[in-house]
Amino acid sequence: MAHKQWFWQTKNTGDVTISKEGIPVHIAIIMDGNGRWAKKRALPRIAGHNEGMKTVREITRSASQLGVKVLTLYAFSTENWKRPKLEVDFLMKLPEEFLSTFLPELIEENVRVEMIGDIEQLPKHTQRAVQNAMEQTADNDGLILNFALNYGSRTELVQAIRAVVKDVKDGALSEQEITDATISRYLMTSHLPEPDLLIRTSGEHRLSNFMLWQLAYTEFFFTDVLWPDFSEKHLIEAIASYQKRSRRFGGLS
Ligand code: FPP
Repeated sequence: MAHKQWFWQTKNTGDVTISKEGIPVHIAIIMDGNGRWAKKRALPRIAGHNEGMKTVREITRSASQLGVKVLTLYAFSTENWKRPKLEVDFLMKLPEEFLSTFLPELIEENVRVEMIGDIEQLPKHTQRAVQNAMEQTADNDGLILNFALNYGSRTELVQAIRAVVKDVKDGALSEQEITDATISRYLMTSHLPEPDLLIRTSGEHRLSNFMLWQLAYTEFFFTDVLWPDFSEKHLIEAIASYQKRSRRFGGLS
């Protein structure tokens, strides 16, 4: 008989139980705290990003095993270009590095790699790595590992509004047809369910221009753990917290 629950023994919180039935379909994560992780060890910031990349691998594996369908990871925002060139260059190499190391395993695990964000502005080498991974995993029907890369929610909304206006002007869409659902169809996430759970690491409590439309009814989980230290145990704690919530979507329970 299939087990309906998983039990986790954790050092700080004792036993954590999560139910297999209530696994969030879509988890989105703002991976924060790489810089502070490095600073605490007197290492350069890029060492924190490198360690954060390893966490991406671990959390992808855990999410896949837990039966999560979509994992969206905020890897580079439209605002991150303001960082020093050395750091930006390093961050632009990370997708390549990650995929050159882990793509065969991701394929084996039936993971499908996707991205949201403006791919055109990324360096060619980053574009090639991401495109290649997306092509090679296009037929996989397991976890969707969705990287938000050069992504900004306001830019996404501006582009959506422009496309809606164009379609109205061209007669492809009437003003009455502009509804919630229509707007969602014009976003980069049109093919994905909205996130059920948003996790932000490192103790910051803000959205930083991430999925502003899509997170309207998402449950939030904030943890002080820095992204490089975030592990399966913390993911399980976030899911356990999510499973205790009563989601009413503006109605009554
Ligand atoms: C924010 O932490 C983190 C980022 C801007 C980059 C996140 C990137 C990764 C975790 C690696 C991505 C891996 C792949 C495979 C694309 P921060 O640098 O702002 O940390 P701080 O607030 O402590 O300075």
